[in-house]
Amino acid sequence: MKQAYRAEILDFINDPVLYGLDAMRHFSDGLLVIEAGKVVAVGDAATLLPLLEVNTPIHDYRPQIIMPGLIDTHIHYPQCEVIASYGTQLLDWLNTYTFPAEGKFSDFKYAQSVAKFFIDELHRNGTTTAMVFASVHPHSVDALCEAAGDMRLIVGKVLMDRNAPHSLCDSAASTYDDNKTLIKRWHGQKRLSYALTPRFAPTSTDAQLQAVQALHHEFPDVHLQTHVAENKEEVAWVAELFPWSRSYLDVYDHYDLLFERALFAHCLYLNDTDRARLGESGAAIAFCPSSNLFLGSGLFDLQAAQKHNIQVGIASDVGGGTSFSILQNLSDAYKVLQLKQQAMPARQGLYLATLGGARALKLDTQIGNFEVGKEADFIVIDPDATPLTAQRMAHATNIDERLFALMMLGDDRHISATYILGEAIYTKPFCTLQT
Ligand code: GUN
Ligand code: ZN
Repeated sequence: MKQAYRAEILDFINDPVLYGLDAMRHFSDGLLVIEAGKVVAVGDAATLLPLLEVNTPIHDYRPQIIMPGLIDTHIHYPQCEVIASYGTQLLDWLNTYTFPAEGKFSDFKYAQSVAKFFIDELHRNGTTTAMVFASVHPHSVDALCEAAGDMRLIVGKVLMDRNAPHSLCDSAASTYDDNKTLIKRWHGQKRLSYALTPRFAPTSTDAQLQAVQALHHEFPDVHLQTHVAENKEEVAWVAELFPWSRSYLDVYDHYDLLFERALFAHCLYLNDTDRARLGESGAAIAFCPSSNLFLGSGLFDLQAAQKHNIQVGIASDVGGGTSFSILQNLSDAYKVLQLKQQAMPARQGLYLATLGGARALKLDTQIGNFEVGKEADFIVIDPDATPLTAQRMAHATNIDERLFALMMLGDDRHISATYILGEAIYTKPFCTLQT
């Protein structure tokens, strides 16, 4: 049975950097029509309403905004409990906070409870798709995949066989078998995909990276996620550990890990040879602004990535990042880019958070906008959800100004509802005054 949603509706059909204002579709009084979890029509309400069958329910969200679900291209679910941990940069932060927190995932029940919290938190923030690091324990992938419901996730078990606490290390020998088992169990099940997940070059031996290479060759449609060039100390360490490499990115290239479904988080300290390699390989970057600021890692150069035709998605990188909200991360992205003398209008930011993220994850034939036939993951945004944004919206004179204020000031409070495959899986509770 069809369902229709009436609201101000927007989505992106192209990259605004290349296609300008026409990249965004905007219907100030729009209608989104869904059937069996897929988009069957989107357009002006005045055009579409007369075409609806008479018994089609119409859910009227006016004057709120409907847009595609937000996409988080890089996040760690075992790090929920260390978000906002004080005073360290990357390598100390991993040892002091992150590894102990990830150690707790040896307990499957604990993993299940965090997985549930994590999925709920994504939904509360309007995130409908995420690419997620689990912990080193294979059952941490099971816990998350079981909690995912109908959500679209790309998930992988972390691989580490050196330079981490012994209890968190796997081995080159187990890498092949564990990953093969998880791929067979989860890749292509429901809306789940699997990602080979070497944590970062310093925590994998040559033998483990060779095992990842073999898995990539055997399962070419499986994704890969890792970190690269996030922190200056880390970059220097990689140069010591892999003295033969041309650069940090070159370590991954050596093992044939630059390919279309590979996603590299951070990419702060790349040179143009690295960017050219990313561009020609089709691999993508996760821009993690709140994490890069919080861990004092550095400033991402978005323009340089765009110049080399690299797909970029936005990412929270929780728990290095300080917010699950992709809107908050866009706000930090804008400030990072200001410090680079670069601009990011709202159309560009919201593109990165939707169709751009889908392209970075190579999921853009399924999600990212309201093209007919795509999966109906969408959110309802209330720009007036807080007194501050309500008064700011009242003073905005056009759509770009309103979207920019939303991008800078918006967060979970502005997400009224989150729909997955056309089903409302989160609706913001109404606050009632207690007397
Ligand atoms: N580099 C290696 N591991 C991590 C991690 O968990 N978070 C971040 N931000 N960077 C990393
Ligand atoms: Zn990360």
